[in-house]
Amino acid sequence: MTPSPDIPAASEPTRASVVTIDGPAGAGKSTVARAVADLLGFAHLDTGAMFRAVTWTLLEEPRAARLLEAGGDDVDALEAAARDVLAARRFGLDAEGAVTVDGRTPGAELRTPRVDACVSRIAALAAVRTPMLELQRAFAERGPMVCEGRDMGTEVFPDARYKFYLDASVAERARRRLGDYAERGRAAPVEEIEAEIAVRDRRDAERAIAPLRCADDAVRIDTTGLTIDGVVARIVARVRGVEEGAA
Ligand code: DC
Repeated sequence: MTPSPDIPAASEPTRASVVTIDGPAGAGKSTVARAVADLLGFAHLDTGAMFRAVTWTLLEEPRAARLLEAGGDDVDALEAAARDVLAARRFGLDAEGAVTVDGRTPGAELRTPRVDACVSRIAALAAVRTPMLELQRAFAERGPMVCEGRDMGTEVFPDARYKFYLDASVAERARRRLGDYAERGRAAPVEEIEAEIAVRDRRDAERAIAPLRCADDAVRIDTTGLTIDGVVARIVARVRGVEEGAA
């Protein structure tokens, strides 16, 4: 049956009220996404935190931790461990879009060097991505939001009206990460951070499922040498401009 042209497509509310911000680690997504969400009065969804939460809970299981930290690539064993943890623990999103595990919101636990080192392997697993995608789409039904990640504009919300892709040089991203680490009392040589970023970029971009990629219809912004405020202003102007243009 052909739908009547008067009836909006089922995806229309989501399309109109989702701003996607994708890009590699250290491109400035989190700070920018939070500020854009505040200015627009939208919720903010940090999808990287969801994959970090699954990784953190896996690292709490001795067997899974050994598997992950041994560094081998036994994907089947990792998938099985991830399935177990997803069945045993309750992952969700609170009203603000913060990830919850068994009703509790983890904080600094999600940003330890251990989680940093393992998360891209967990984010590559279908057993993890599918339930996270369902949570992300369900959250979009609750109201307007700005979501950040790697595959928001390509896989999770391909129909979103406002899509952005933030990038920056590896040197600039390492410099920013150095600043984040300093705030958390961690010191590391910049070369080590650059190497870490390069490994994660490669894993995120080369994985089979939902690899990091700029959507064809996303606005690409190279944030190297730009201020946070400048990037935020560009995104907000674009969203408001599209809104006014569409009115
Ligand atoms: O943005 P972040 O550093 O917190 O992301 C943590 C990891 O999760 C990183 O390896 C990329 C992955 N990720 C993903 O695969 N898909 C997303 N939508 C968000 C993050």
